[in-house]
Amino acid sequence: MTAYPQPRPSEITPEHVYLSRRDFLKAAGVASAAALLAACAPRGLQPGRPTDAAAPADTAWRDERGDPATPYEVVTTYNNYYEFSTDKQAVAERARDFPTDPWTITIGGLVHEPLTLGLEDLLRRFPPEERVYRLRCVEGWSAVIPWMGVPLAALLKAAQPKAEARFVRFVAVHDPERMPGQRNYQTFPWPYTEGLRLDEAMHDLTFMATGLYGKPLPVQSGAPLRLVVPWKYGFKSIKAVVRIELVAEQPATLWNTVAPHEYGFYANVNPQVDHPRWSQATERRLGERGRRPTLMFNGYEAQVAGLYAGMDLEVNY
Ligand code: MTE
Repeated sequence: MTAYPQPRPSEITPEHVYLSRRDFLKAAGVASAAALLAACAPRGLQPGRPTDAAAPADTAWRDERGDPATPYEVVTTYNNYYEFSTDKQAVAERARDFPTDPWTITIGGLVHEPLTLGLEDLLRRFPPEERVYRLRCVEGWSAVIPWMGVPLAALLKAAQPKAEARFVRFVAVHDPERMPGQRNYQTFPWPYTEGLRLDEAMHDLTFMATGLYGKPLPVQSGAPLRLVVPWKYGFKSIKAVVRIELVAEQPATLWNTVAPHEYGFYANVNPQVDHPRWSQATERRLGERGRRPTLMFNGYEAQVAGLYAGMDLEVNY
């Protein structure tokens, strides 16, 4: 694989320049929009607050490798959520008043028992548990986050997938009136959608989060319910899910539609397969200085490699 250099700061486009190109984006096709507004383009890899802002209570959580949780303050002020802003440090403020209660999620498609659940029903029926996972963004930054939530498998089993179901499609909320990104980036195929193969979705690591650090999810983190797939790049972990659909064919997903050569359907974390515009060999852990090596499947290789036996992971990136 050819290694690609990290972009220089001068190559990183500030938001006001993006915004002044809005009219151009409106006129341009999806491919050009992708080139300008590439998913998670590595603009500004600094978290909102420096390392030393760590509250001791946050770092009491550790992942199974012994890495401390990234401070709450950092994780909730440095977010990718294009529905609100492409500026990670502006998301929390812009998302603050977005209403997430009441919230209904439906599980349908190729299932025997379609479900429609309010968030409270869901939490009553599926008591939340805690998982401390690493999150690795395709841009080259990562965090350790203690999530609260339910394994996706529990929800899917309750809906009883039919034999023909082979994939799961996830759909996020569509609310252009309250979500400026859905008005501003008109060439994006809103709402945000994602997908998994059914066996990936049923894997015990695959999680629907409703909280973090023992608190309810804040809006910027995907309230009230988001997917977390810790061995895949973060863009697979879709926020603000309203519908889960069992389907027969591999579903179209937002980033794979916008820039298929940059964002694969599988998107398994793989330090040996570079993004066309930068290396994936290392990452910056938010709140830390320097970079650390990126681990195959984000360090979950022992648990998930079996899902891809016989698959060419360079082609199916
Ligand atoms: N979900 C929605 N609905 N909209 C988004 O823009 N961004 C994705 C993912 N889920 C995104 C999304 C990307 S690129 C990443 S890296 C993670 O959310 C970031 O999650 P975080 O902000 O909680 O760290």
